[in-house]
Amino acid sequence: KEINDELKPIWMDLKYFKHKGALIDNYLLPEQIVGKLNDIKKFEFKKTDCICSSFPKSGTTLIQEIVYLIQTNFDYDSAKQIDISERYSFLEWPTTNLKKLSLNSNEKTRFFKTHLPPKFFNETFPKAKVVYAYRNPKDVTVSYFHFLRSINIELKYSGPWNQFVQSFLIDEVYYGPWWKHVNDYHALNDQIFFVSYEDLLTNFRPTVRRLAAYLGKEKELTDEQLDKLEKWCSFDSMKNNSRVNYNWMKEWGFTNKNFSFLRKGVIGDWLNSFDVDQSRQYDTMVSSRISSSIPPFNYGI
Ligand code: A3P
Repeated sequence: KEINDELKPIWMDLKYFKHKGALIDNYLLPEQIVGKLNDIKKFEFKKTDCICSSFPKSGTTLIQEIVYLIQTNFDYDSAKQIDISERYSFLEWPTTNLKKLSLNSNEKTRFFKTHLPPKFFNETFPKAKVVYAYRNPKDVTVSYFHFLRSINIELKYSGPWNQFVQSFLIDEVYYGPWWKHVNDYHALNDQIFFVSYEDLLTNFRPTVRRLAAYLGKEKELTDEQLDKLEKWCSFDSMKNNSRVNYNWMKEWGFTNKNFSFLRKGVIGDWLNSFDVDQSRQYDTMVSSRISSSIPPFNYGI
């Protein structure tokens, strides 16, 4: 049995278990469904696949929209018509049928999203185009806290802010440890595209050009295309776009009524929530845990 016995209730409203060193929630991947984890491990990726990966709340949706549009040669029509949750298969989502996806053997790009660490996959994973979005951990924490407080499903968090911060620091948040997630993806840096949320926000064009080059599409990017993409992917535009703002979560009763997946979309929102001591504890965590080859995080100050 690969899963250890650490299944226990925590301060979150849900049980979790640890698998390959990561804290996995019992909602998306119930502990009983060992088969799903095995299917994930066995899943064969192809070099034509695109995988957008991240620790939650690090800019996944933004990078998904950019990758989709570049990869489809700017098929805005389908982006307008099809929800991002349908354009991308969320690998660990309970209803994602990996066996069915495996049978899809044509050469068309398959788009995947995951928050799982790379160790959950086999050696075919980095053969695909893997785009990993990361973000400074203080803003990740604020964003994660607000997200988990807004949802009504079992994954929700109903505790106070201070406790959430302490849980993040002791690695007790879903998909954590955060620092290990970032380090493990960075170890694949030669093969994957490692991109920060902050670079996307402050340096959109050069970052997107580098991404397009990684996807093999650099030559196709004109200034006009970049103009349109930048506007399409702006915070306001995506917030008003039901195809990427996860409006269905509200409609299905998964979230409270005033939920917006795109919440603030800024760098440095942590300054409104962190106290000096919490900020210092994060700095210590980063300096002691994050690989020194990763460039310093942009905290917006
Ligand atoms: P905030 O909660 O800080 O606003 P993910 O997609 O990984 O869950 O990340 C969600 C975070 O990315 C949210 O952060 C969301 O607002 C932000 N985000 C999504 N699209 C964005 C965009 N187009 N511009 C800026 N921020 C965006």
